[in-house]
Amino acid sequence: MESCLPHLVLFLAISEFPTLTSLSLEAIPRVTFLRGDPHRTFAWFSQDGHRNYSTLLLSKEMGTLYVGARDVLFAVNTSVIGQLDLIKELQWKATERKVADCSFKGKSKEWDCFNFIRMVLPLNASYLYTCGTFAFSPSCAYIDVETFSFVQDADGEPRTEAGKGRCPFDPRHKYTATIVDGELYTGTTDDFQGTESSISRNLGPRVGLKTETSSNWLQDPTFVGSSSLPESDGEKIYFFFTETRSKTDLLQKLSQSMVARVCKSDVGGERVLQKRWITFLKAQLLCYLPDDRFPFNVLQDVFVSKDGDEPVVYGIFSSQWSQGSSQTSAVCAYSFRDIQAVFKGSYKMLHRETQSWSVYTHDGQEPRPGACNMDPSMDSTLNRVKDLLLMEGVVHPIDQQPLLVKARQHYTKIAVDTVVSISSVRYRVLFLIT
Ligand SMILES: *[C@@H]1O[C@H](CO)[C@@H](O)[C@H](O)[C@H]1NC(C)=O
Ligand SMILES: *[C@@H]1O[C@H](CO)[C@@H](O)[C@H](O)[C@H]1NC(C)=O
Ligand SMILES: *[C@@H]1O[C@H](CO)[C@@H](O)[C@H](O)[C@H]1NC(C)=O
Repeated sequence: MESCLPHLVLFLAISEFPTLTSLSLEAIPRVTFLRGDPHRTFAWFSQDGHRNYSTLLLSKEMGTLYVGARDVLFAVNTSVIGQLDLIKELQWKATERKVADCSFKGKSKEWDCFNFIRMVLPLNASYLYTCGTFAFSPSCAYIDVETFSFVQDADGEPRTEAGKGRCPFDPRHKYTATIVDGELYTGTTDDFQGTESSISRNLGPRVGLKTETSSNWLQDPTFVGSSSLPESDGEKIYFFFTETRSKTDLLQKLSQSMVARVCKSDVGGERVLQKRWITFLKAQLLCYLPDDRFPFNVLQDVFVSKDGDEPVVYGIFSSQWSQGSSQTSAVCAYSFRDIQAVFKGSYKMLHRETQSWSVYTHDGQEPRPGACNMDPSMDSTLNRVKDLLLMEGVVHPIDQQPLLVKARQHYTKIAVDTVVSISSVRYRVLFLIT
């Protein structure tokens, strides 16, 4: 929102049923405009003295946009098109003691030791839930929607909760969060150094759950998105991220885009895998041009579209082999049916002694590893599924190719809308930001 670089917003219309020939390596957007373009009414919001606007939540019913920035949250009225009027401002600064600790531990008082608001999500009809980095000591709080003010403790201070595992320490780390029925699902780095990461569930009456710290579960992940989906065998929460694995036979670290999912019904194991997911599974997401040896392997952002017959995931990808100004961006789309099919297939099994992988094809006995009806008390089954987290199959994009590829362009955000033309053709409109 406040960088000096021009921000491009591209509108791209793609017909719902692309054919092979419609793949254009130099897709031309229907509409492109630069930030501040006078030909486009473009509402603008900023408040003097505030910076690092990083979190947005639009409440459709009230037309209120909640904005999280550095040390402050705003409620903004969007009901008049082309106008963004401040309704209320809510200060939330890290305490002096936390700022002192942060700078003592070597972080910059000028750049790092603030409360960067990283999340604002609706918790229920009365409250929003928000988390900030709080001078490298993440913290979360409740906001009363009606008055846009913090729920307070007995001393009149915002009632806060420890935010470790719910919000990154470092404001520069990417991260994702989703609230489902009052429970918070997050994918984030969860220590001061930012070397450890987890997918976890917090809030609500049930036991908190997270991934095992072992690298077999997550390898240096960078989270970009998450979404919940009701399914016939139980609601699931999907996470999208890029993993980086160091291969002993390669000099370079290799990035891989991944999708992981857990079941909402999960309560962890009783003895084995206590307070850990017992339904966690992950699979690789591929985005590539046919016959190209260098796939688009770094996921930048995702958008989950649920307005068609089938939910579809749109991902923006770049390649670790093309950096800087020569960078190429690609958009790949995945049907959830294909993702689910991969999670119903064979597994890659890790042999702990040799750290080598083999293929494990499930014998058909119920429950399958990762199934939502996994029994928390079955120690032997849980001991076995601990090493069956990675699917053998990989998820290919719809039509086995990107929707579009754009050279010398670094897309950072995507949103997708579906519109019907006068001639009743359904078009997807991709909104892409550089
Ligand atoms: C906050 O904004 C300043 C520019 O106003 C930028 O230099 C800095 O990197 C931003 N910090 C974060 C954590 O994004
Ligand atoms: C938002 O603006 C509209 C139109 O000016 C107004 O009617 C409404 O009361 C405003 N909402 C809030 C919460 O201030
Ligand atoms: C919303 O969540 C808060 C905190 O968990 C709880 O105290 C409150 O009763 C909930 N309100 C509603 C309307 O569900």
